[in-house]
Amino acid sequence: MSEKKIEEIISMLTLEEKIAMIHGNGLFRTEGVKRFNIPPLKMSDGPIGVRNEFPDDSWIPIGNSDDYVTYLPCSLALACTWNTELAYKSGQVLGCEARGRGKDVILGPGINIIRSPLCGRNFEYMSEDPYVSGKMAVPFIKGVQENDVSVCVKHFAVNNQETERLNVEAILDERTFREIYLPAFEMAVKEGNAYSIMCAYNKIFGYHCSNNRALLTELLKEEWEFDGIVISDWSAVNNTEFAANAGMDIEMSVTTNFDEYFFANPLIKAVKEGKIKEEVIDEKIRRILRFMYKINIFSEDRKNGTYNLSEHRQVTLDVARESIVLLKNEDNVLPLEDKKIKKLAVIGENANFTHSNGGGSAEIKALYEITPLLGLKMRLGGNTEVKYAKGYSQDPSAKDKLIEEAVELAKSSDEVIIVGGLKHVEDQLKLENNALSVDEDEVVKHRIDSEGYDKSDLILPYDQDELIKRILEVNKNAVIVMLTGSPVDMSEWADEAKAIVQTWYNGMEGGRALAEVIFGDVNPSGKLTVTFPRKLEDSPAHKLGEFPGKETVNYGEGIYVGYRYFETYDINPLFCFGHGLSYTDFKYMDFKITTNEKDNDVEILVNFKITNKGKKAGKEIAQIYISDLEASVERPAIELKAFEKISLKAGETKEVEIKLNKKSLGFYDVNNKKWKVENGAFNILVGSSSKDIRLNSKVNIDSDYEF
Ligand code: BGC
Repeated sequence: MSEKKIEEIISMLTLEEKIAMIHGNGLFRTEGVKRFNIPPLKMSDGPIGVRNEFPDDSWIPIGNSDDYVTYLPCSLALACTWNTELAYKSGQVLGCEARGRGKDVILGPGINIIRSPLCGRNFEYMSEDPYVSGKMAVPFIKGVQENDVSVCVKHFAVNNQETERLNVEAILDERTFREIYLPAFEMAVKEGNAYSIMCAYNKIFGYHCSNNRALLTELLKEEWEFDGIVISDWSAVNNTEFAANAGMDIEMSVTTNFDEYFFANPLIKAVKEGKIKEEVIDEKIRRILRFMYKINIFSEDRKNGTYNLSEHRQVTLDVARESIVLLKNEDNVLPLEDKKIKKLAVIGENANFTHSNGGGSAEIKALYEITPLLGLKMRLGGNTEVKYAKGYSQDPSAKDKLIEEAVELAKSSDEVIIVGGLKHVEDQLKLENNALSVDEDEVVKHRIDSEGYDKSDLILPYDQDELIKRILEVNKNAVIVMLTGSPVDMSEWADEAKAIVQTWYNGMEGGRALAEVIFGDVNPSGKLTVTFPRKLEDSPAHKLGEFPGKETVNYGEGIYVGYRYFETYDINPLFCFGHGLSYTDFKYMDFKITTNEKDNDVEILVNFKITNKGKKAGKEIAQIYISDLEASVERPAIELKAFEKISLKAGETKEVEIKLNKKSLGFYDVNNKKWKVENGAFNILVGSSSKDIRLNSKVNIDSDYEF
């Protein structure tokens, strides 16, 4: 559709018709304009699959059998693969399924920074690091949008907690804003070409994001030249004039009084009274029509998508396999040898629990979900007796009995696998039937990974620590699997346990992938994109007592988020950022760096070789960090600037070449409001994790750069 055509349509639309296009007229759709064949925009959550279908005017799902879908690993799991190709494929699956379900916009990916391990939505986000978040989001976005469906990248911006999420004001300085909380969004816009962005609930710099012209117009639309649309988070708009003028394009909400939305009758009134110029509305329509054109809404050849293809399930399996992180493997306890096991004990409720149907807006109706117990049984077949004991439950009175049962089972088995961790919902039925008292409800919700609530602490719920310690007493080789969507405190038993495996809400094939890793069919290759602290107080926001705020939350740690803090202040985490073991060993060598300063840029060519020294094929994630040794401002000890996942057969060597540029070296200079590289020495470090640095060399930059 040409710009001329767009202007023509705008000139013929009545104010009422325009207004219909810019607010929800169903919980997940806008209204179209029939006389111009402009259809409504249909939206759906969310990042792990296309959410179940709701009627226009109720939050009770329709409940038909036609909305079962492919269940993808959660965003944190995807990020822990560090595999950009898999991110792209996951996006393709989601886009194809969203189109297949008739959607125009899929509400994801979520790329807020994991500031605290307690944020209830960490599983929906990618990392504590802006670079990994952005690098994984970009191919994901491209994959989705190839299907004539738009992403809606969320939640813009600085939405890092669920507590008081509608009104809390995040107080942060400009450098922190630019260096930590914005880059992933900027990459999503500039490199990913995201067609839409979801405006967050919270306030920053004195205003709700929805009323924040500096954020939505000056930064996003002008500075970053974003030409897509801004959609509000559901109920994020709270002021007609402010939001309309700030640059919000579409108001969505959770209530069903659609005509009373801020962008409905109140906006018509404000325009008629001359409080808001009609051209403000026209600009929104202009963007919406361009957006519709981008997703081919008017085209006869628009892709039609489909869902539940076997290829889609294969992608979920590939992601799950590469997302699992082998945290510890003393004495090579793993992989287990199936032939040696006559009787296997599988202990812990998470072995036998499905997660896809909970967590808030990320819930879906999975076509199926392979639990760890099912995956293990499928893998071992009939010659091994696999016995399950629940081990723990939310019912405290059952605790002693469950632990005793589990200990007895462990004693009488050849090998033991404990699968513990967290959940999205504690007890679906009880919650739905309001069978919990208000107090209980509060406690319950603060121990799960879910939208709307932050966890109250890092401690494993339901006395799992006690269970694990008791099992380790009778079998010191017991394999401990943590299935969570965020870090948990393992300090009670992590030193004693020999084998610890981290898995996630890992998609419909998650249990199969876990079994394959445990039995060595798949060599683990995931690495953490988030630091696992030894104890909560070691995390920077918690050290300062600044999570979660209520009316305000002070980001006192500034740029020292995640490993930037742990490394700079020399705090030993339990498992560091970038950590993840393999069943083989990699050797890094032949490090060579060439620096070239020309055309107002720096080109740093980083070359090295990696050899797989072991007997198994494997994949290594080489991480490139920089360290500014002579800066005039404070800088973190290390900052991730590139990574590469390399697949190596046993004995194979590959050469890796990575390019860095001035962007990789700079910091945000608040005085000049620009990025800056100061001349002087930098260290370029290549690590197998943020702590396990294998290659390290100094380079000198001769000039200053501003950009
Ligand atoms: C969430 C969004 C979600 C929207 C629609 C909001 O409460 O914050 O992430 O996309 O609801 O369900």
